[in-house]
Amino acid sequence: MRRKVIFGNWKLNKTVAEGVALAKELRAALPNPKCEVGVAPTFLALNAVAEALKGSPIAVAGQNCFWKEKGAYTSQISPQYLKDAGASHVIIGHSETRGRFGVEESVEDPDALKVFGDTDASVNIKARYALENGLVPIICCGELLSERKAGNTDKVVSGQIEGALKNITAAQVAGLVIAYEPVWAIGTGEVCASDEADRVCGVIRATVARLYDQATAEAVRIQYGGSVKPDNAKELLSKPNIDGALVGGASLKAADFLGIIEAV
Ligand code: 13P
Repeated sequence: MRRKVIFGNWKLNKTVAEGVALAKELRAALPNPKCEVGVAPTFLALNAVAEALKGSPIAVAGQNCFWKEKGAYTSQISPQYLKDAGASHVIIGHSETRGRFGVEESVEDPDALKVFGDTDASVNIKARYALENGLVPIICCGELLSERKAGNTDKVVSGQIEGALKNITAAQVAGLVIAYEPVWAIGTGEVCASDEADRVCGVIRATVARLYDQATAEAVRIQYGGSVKPDNAKELLSKPNIDGALVGGASLKAADFLGIIEAV
């Protein structure tokens, strides 16, 4: 039986003081959560939030990482430094760091959206380096609306997973988390129907079974993310292939995030 795992991805929200205040609220409300819970603050707030959550069951994740420990890599953060600051997990390959915002048809300069530049290859090297250095990766995948409309959802998502997991061992895959986040459902209020989200999570699990074996596929936990709210969480989390949620907007208010955790 896979333990459900709910993470809040705060993205570019919460100052240090705001992040600490939210962390303290969550800590007080969750002395003994029935699932694994974590939050991903900005790099700036991460250490203070981790200090506020020290000794609590709530984990802390980075929102990205680099594949070198240290050196002349302006703006980058390594898994070692994330761990030093109190993180145990790291989100890798979020559509926003891949530059896949789902609005590519509507902007004048599509290249402007690719500034963060993650690719399947960089997601893979980051995931491997995070694992080597003792962080649990939360590896994101998900299709654009245009890819869904073209009938390519399964191909896109399984391709991203295959790329992300290259040279990662079965034992490592069994311990990591995959987040299925259809790009069109992120921040739009347009949640993916639970049966469809479950189906795509099943496709991801089948991909892991094809690349590794059935036991690894049964062990890996697959979250759904994209407009998860307290009122749709129960249905999503009741599905056999959905092992948790990666929550954006609704993780910014304690009551909403706690409502989602309640739904487990
Ligand atoms: P929303 O919950 O705001 O749609 O964001 C989902 C997400 O991107 C989590 O990583």
